[in-house]
Amino acid sequence: MKYTITVLKGDGIGPEITDQALAVLKAAGDKYGISFELREELMGGCAIDEYGIPLPEVTLKACKESDAVLLGAVGGPKWEELPRSKTPEAGLLGIRAGLGLYANLRPAVIYEALRDASPLKSEIIGDKIDILVVRELTGGIYFGERGRSDTGTENESAYDTERYSVAEIERIAAIAFEAASKRSGIVTSVDKANVLESSKLWREVVIRKAREYPNIVLNHLYVDNAAMQLVRNPRQFDVILTSNMFGDILSDEASMITGSIGMLPSASLGNGALGLYEPIHGSAPDIAGMNKANPIAAILSTAMMLRYSFKQYAAADAIEDAVRRVLEKGYRTADIASAGNTVTETSEMGELVVREVLLKQ
Ligand code: IPM
Ligand code: MG
Repeated sequence: MKYTITVLKGDGIGPEITDQALAVLKAAGDKYGISFELREELMGGCAIDEYGIPLPEVTLKACKESDAVLLGAVGGPKWEELPRSKTPEAGLLGIRAGLGLYANLRPAVIYEALRDASPLKSEIIGDKIDILVVRELTGGIYFGERGRSDTGTENESAYDTERYSVAEIERIAAIAFEAASKRSGIVTSVDKANVLESSKLWREVVIRKAREYPNIVLNHLYVDNAAMQLVRNPRQFDVILTSNMFGDILSDEASMITGSIGMLPSASLGNGALGLYEPIHGSAPDIAGMNKANPIAAILSTAMMLRYSFKQYAAADAIEDAVRRVLEKGYRTADIASAGNTVTETSEMGELVVREVLLKQ
């Protein structure tokens, strides 16, 4: 099998982690008879420098023509002062919307070897934490009407709008219910229905949609309570279903429970097989180019790509197992290291995972 992948390395640590992810993907491909045609394009700050805009037409076109997109990270201080529609972040939102990727899956799993890296006490972690955040990705306040009035006067004000349609809520709820049916069967829908009208509709539609999934247990939490429950008793969660902004916030929190935001991959999916895969962390400009960043989130993003877009389950498992074995052997990048670990650089971590993939029986 051969798949076409558009690679958007992006800014900051994006290129160095993506290089390691690609090396691991190639190793898994060699092992399982899968080949990849890679097409590199610019998106984010690097595209602003080259084309003056964060998401050039040629980049979006390349993504649309490929089987999957692998993204590093975008943004950095150099581009922070630009008008909002010209920022690297606007490029990322443009690509999500442009490809119709409304469902963002962010798994937060604690690796046994990394228990000590979690800021939570061992008794709170219990035997395992395995949460899947299902975040709506192309609607809500990120894409609602916004603006300013009385600019430059004493009365200046600004607004953003949270708006969700029944159809948007139904399709993301379906993704969460489907995912839960292959996991522990519990969906916790997170909203702010005690205050927001958009959340009231969210809750109504989720409850209605749940009738199609009689085997799923559906719970509801207000977002403030959910943020608290995530650190108080994270084991109660299986699938968390939530809106674009709440999902942005809660997935960072869930990631930290696992030890480091440098560990978490994500998949952004729409109705077809095309997906965009990226670490949930940012571009970390402070350590860019220093070969210090943790490439594991990027590496695990390629496993999600193999699983969700290509249905190459054995290769996906091989990558995830390889990461687990490298961690078990005590290798850590600086962000997840504690006493007694062997601290590795970005490239060395990638090489270790490649070796484990190739060694797998
Ligand atoms: C994320 C990021 C993005 C988001 C930013 C960079 C626009 O924080 O993917 O979680 O808010 O969606
Ligand atoms: Mg975020």
